[in-house]
Amino acid sequence: ALCGVVALDGPSGTGKTTAARRLATEFGAGYLDTGAMYRVATLAVLRAGIGPDDASAVVELVRRIEIGVGTDPKEPSASLDGVDVSEAIRTEEVNQAVSAVSAVPEVREMLVAEQRRIIRKALDEVGGIVVDGRDIGTVVVPDAPLKVFLTASADVRARRRSAQDAAAGRVSTPEETKASVERRDRLDSTRANSPLRAADDAVLLDTSDLALDEVTAKLTELAEDRG
Ligand code: C5P
Repeated sequence: ALCGVVALDGPSGTGKTTAARRLATEFGAGYLDTGAMYRVATLAVLRAGIGPDDASAVVELVRRIEIGVGTDPKEPSASLDGVDVSEAIRTEEVNQAVSAVSAVPEVREMLVAEQRRIIRKALDEVGGIVVDGRDIGTVVVPDAPLKVFLTASADVRARRRSAQDAAAGRVSTPEETKASVERRDRLDSTRANSPLRAADDAVLLDTSDLALDEVTAKLTELAEDRG
């Protein structure tokens, strides 16, 4: 069994989400994709016709919506006001706007509170949860017994993102993907509030030369060591 919380942070395209889901499945633990929550908030902002940089309008809207995420690693789901939006949150429009929405301190405060509730519930019910994000080890669960910070070169990350897009039927060129991934990581790493950064006590794992199976195996090994 996996005891407690595994905090998995890092930029996109590091294999984080796939490895997190596999690890959680292997251990019969829960899985929380915190990025999906920021994506649902962003989708609501875009649908309401609010500019993602209009912080006060964003906060007012996010206060009123219901963001739902499932914690089954085999079947991740995301909903907005009870309606499934698992696919709608993966568009390039959302990719472009999500860093602005997630940089708003009040938005983070609301979502972090909800994340902690979900984590507590999973710990009560199944004893463990793998949490995937940017600030899990630094802010959301600073006392997590295992924190891993995944990295990979920009080229590798862009390639992985392209492959994911293609697999999901979304059209993008490698250049567009690379520019989009780099822009988002730059915004996420430089924001004032809870920037993307490794916790001092995180294990750093460079996945540039690892296959997804190897990333999962490495995480399993770390989780077993700490268990
Ligand atoms: O993980 P994913 O790429 O889906 O995350 C989408 C965006 O949500 C990130 O680029 C970041 O702006 C935001 N995010 C965040 N904090 C988290 C998880 C995601 O700010 N814990």
